[in-house]
Amino acid sequence: MADRFAQEKAELRRLAGERNAVILAHNYQRLEVQEAADFVGDSLELARHAAATDADLILFCGVHFMAETAHILAPQKTVLMPDTRSGCPMADMVTAEALRALKAKHPGVPVVAYVNTSAAVKAESDVCCTSSNCVEIVARFPRDQELIFVPDRNLGDYVRRRSGHESMIVWDGYCHVHDDIRPDDIVAARELHPDAVVMAHPECPHEVLELADVVASTSGMLRRPETDPATSFIVATEVGLVDRLKTLYPGRTFVVASRRAYCPNMKLNTLEKAIAAFERTLVSGDSPFDRWYFGHDNQAISADAKRGFEIFLGQGRCVSCHTIEQDRALFTDNRFHNIGVGINKIQPDVPRLSAEFQKAKASGASVDKTVLADPKVSDLGRFAVTTHFDEIGAFKTSTLRNIAVTGPYMHDGSLKTLRDVVKHYNDGGKSAGDPSVNPYLSGGIRPLNLTEQQINELVAFLEALTSPQYVNAKTKDGATP
Ligand code: 13P
Ligand code: SF4
Repeated sequence: MADRFAQEKAELRRLAGERNAVILAHNYQRLEVQEAADFVGDSLELARHAAATDADLILFCGVHFMAETAHILAPQKTVLMPDTRSGCPMADMVTAEALRALKAKHPGVPVVAYVNTSAAVKAESDVCCTSSNCVEIVARFPRDQELIFVPDRNLGDYVRRRSGHESMIVWDGYCHVHDDIRPDDIVAARELHPDAVVMAHPECPHEVLELADVVASTSGMLRRPETDPATSFIVATEVGLVDRLKTLYPGRTFVVASRRAYCPNMKLNTLEKAIAAFERTLVSGDSPFDRWYFGHDNQAISADAKRGFEIFLGQGRCVSCHTIEQDRALFTDNRFHNIGVGINKIQPDVPRLSAEFQKAKASGASVDKTVLADPKVSDLGRFAVTTHFDEIGAFKTSTLRNIAVTGPYMHDGSLKTLRDVVKHYNDGGKSAGDPSVNPYLSGGIRPLNLTEQQINELVAFLEALTSPQYVNAKTKDGATP
């Protein structure tokens, strides 16, 4: 594992250098992701870093609102996330619409939004704060000024008490990770470590904060041992912070207040996904097709390739899955289809294989391991993930960009050349539409009746989708595309 991480970190650093990118990671990220980052910090530090960077691209390893904040502060930069599903459930507890309704009930009352909110909610707010500056920001308003605070009831309560703003209307949201830390957790940890300093994040409930010696943001907690000579600390926040504290201060003891305090969203980001996020941006727009279709350079592709494009749109029906939009063409609908590759060769084993796989999965077998161990199971396609029978043999439509250099083709590499691919479709996915061969074949797959000449023209068009930089790169290495 350590070796794998070392290789992946090196690859990520290489990609970041190549793309003039900066990698920012939140303090709760997996340790190996933090180690690959240029800068690790709390929400405020990360936002400041994003605003100040002169990199072209920001790879943000954190949750969605943090990356969105980086984009607000650096609108001219591209911001990527390893996994865009990593959201913050607390941020989702307030919507712009619901906030507008509350504002309508309290006209003219300023809104203070915690940074853990969507851009739409921030746009409805007057000021934004983070856990490290919330008391200071609220204290700038006159004490008797009514305020609305969204979305964290625990942080709102903490700010109300610390700033003396009694008339604060606080939204009823909470972070499930911190809200679940109980006073009993602190009491139990203290019994085991009576001399420990208790540090807590202000998203914890008031009863927990009352038992804490220090209330601070994630970075505030990380800095505390620099000036505090204590040898042990109890840490009431997401468990990832303890890993970081242990690496920063190897001679001291750090214990988690609650093992339940795990933020699954923060942990969705991995080194592999960070690498993939960079790779997904490597879409070139300088193929002969682009120069012809979008750049209006009539000489950029051959007459054969132009006729091939007509077939692509018409008789070949390729465009129904390899889609083209008005101003861009990624050549994929990002959907799953059974086009008769792989699945045909495992017939008539499919009923047995699928039933066995379904049983193994229900009793806890790892999908990845089972699929890797048996190529026949991998031919079951998306079924291996969903176990929906209508997804047997279905695979995601791949992009066609740079396709001249990405062979062999299909999930199993069974089609060696572009001509083989076109012939496969021309034959109607091999089964020629016979449902007894492949009952799950996608509806649009049926014989195309293309002539040899038309097949050649379609291949010429597909070849025109490859950027000259990749054709040349392959040739330089001595490999033939
Ligand atoms: P910090 O701003 O302290 O890093 O906190 C962000 C967060 O999401 C805590 O759960
Ligand atoms: Fe949101 Fe809580 Fe996770 Fe922080 S720890 S990102 S507040 S769910």
